Amino acid sequence: MDSAKWQALENECAACRKCGLSQERSNVVFGVGSRQSKLMLVGEGPGYHEDMQGEPFVGPAGQLLDKMLASVGLLRKDVYIANVVKCRPPNNRDPQPAEMEACLPYLRAQYTLLRPGIIVCLGRISAGALIDKEFRITRDRGKWFERKGVAITATFHPAALLRDDSKKRPAWEDFKVIKRRLEELKN
Ligand code: URA
Repeated sequence: MDSAKWQALENECAACRKCGLSQERSNVVFGVGSRQSKLMLVGEGPGYHEDMQGEPFVGPAGQLLDKMLASVGLLRKDVYIANVVKCRPPNNRDPQPAEMEACLPYLRAQYTLLRPGIIVCLGRISAGALIDKEFRITRDRGKWFERKGVAITATFHPAALLRDDSKKRPAWEDFKVIKRRLEELKN
């Protein structure tokens, strides 16, 4: 039943022309991972590698994300990963508000189907879209919020960790808390 709904949603995204990003994409990057997962990770939008392969977080930032997950005993295949926008913004610029508006219903449909217990925003764009427009990632990362019964938090985007080593430790601390809260959900 749900698998038919997932397929319908993925097909709808694949055909989407709601914003200009659709004109330059190689692939729609829908999302990947376990559709049974209690943990959903949300990035901002596909980069070059993701656009080429049609899968989120497969470039250098994605490899670091995999390591961060592994450092707390999580595997990429056991979480669900998606982005705020499903098509690559040119030159990896930030997605524009109208592009995010157009695309967010797909992400909402994804978490309605997934029913995660925890959503983790990766970086300020995702946190701004899902938690609070005024979210400041350095100030507010690691804080927890609740939206309609779902616990939601944000940590640094893995690309930010690649640019600045000093962010790795706090991001790891965030992931340790995320893992602990995930374990608590299962009990
Ligand atoms: N950065 C993101 O925000 N998402 C991806 O899928 C890849 C890089």
